[in-house]
Amino acid sequence: MADWTKKTILRSNALQQYIFETSAYPKEHEQLKELREASAEKYKDCGDRNHYFRQIIAIDPDKEAYETGAPFIKKAGVQQKIKFIPSDAFLVLNDLIKNGEEGSFDFIFVDAYKNDYLKFHELTLKLVKIGGIVAYDNTLWYGSVAKSKTEVADGLIKMFRSFEIEFNSFVAADPQVESSLLSIGDGLTLCMRLY
Ligand SMILES: C[S@@+](CC[C@H](N)C(=O)[O-])C[C@H]1O[C@@H](n2cnc3c(N)ncnc32)[C@H](O)[C@@H]1O
Repeated sequence: MADWTKKTILRSNALQQYIFETSAYPKEHEQLKELREASAEKYKDCGDRNHYFRQIIAIDPDKEAYETGAPFIKKAGVQQKIKFIPSDAFLVLNDLIKNGEEGSFDFIFVDAYKNDYLKFHELTLKLVKIGGIVAYDNTLWYGSVAKSKTEVADGLIKMFRSFEIEFNSFVAADPQVESSLLSIGDGLTLCMRLY
């Protein structure tokens, strides 16, 4: 059996196998099954392929945001895959674009100030590959996006509510992405870049 503990943070092959067999495999499309089996065969002698995956750039001017998670990242043994840049993300994203990284990211996750989401969208769509995903957190903004202005009390929620509403409408109409607003947590919008 493949040693999945080298590839995931789950530290039990038996548990990983259980998840596959009870949750993933029963609903797996025949072509996906064949692709999975062909891939397993192709890479069976490659040893630990972990180094190909999960290379992540994490950006936040607030070092503490990263330092909170750092011990857990280390415990999971994936710290070498994460490059933390203590900076404003706009500077870093623009540098990545200037340095020829357009269309090279598989996945981008945005959880910053909500008034900046539209500006982020412009840059993330340049950096993610066609078919790649950009995820935006908090897009239901405590449920306030479905309330009238008068129903929301003054404060942080009211302050950013209109930005989330504007962002959600923009993304829903944006022809460059196929999007889905998932009703989990505080709302998570997934955008797949189409072109
Ligand atoms: C709600 S916190 C989320 C932090 C982290 N994602 C988490 O779940 O713990 C929002 C973070 O966005 C960061 N932030 C806001 N604007 C940013 C920007 N332009 N570039 C990088 N980070 C930004 C803030 O410093 C803050 O740490």
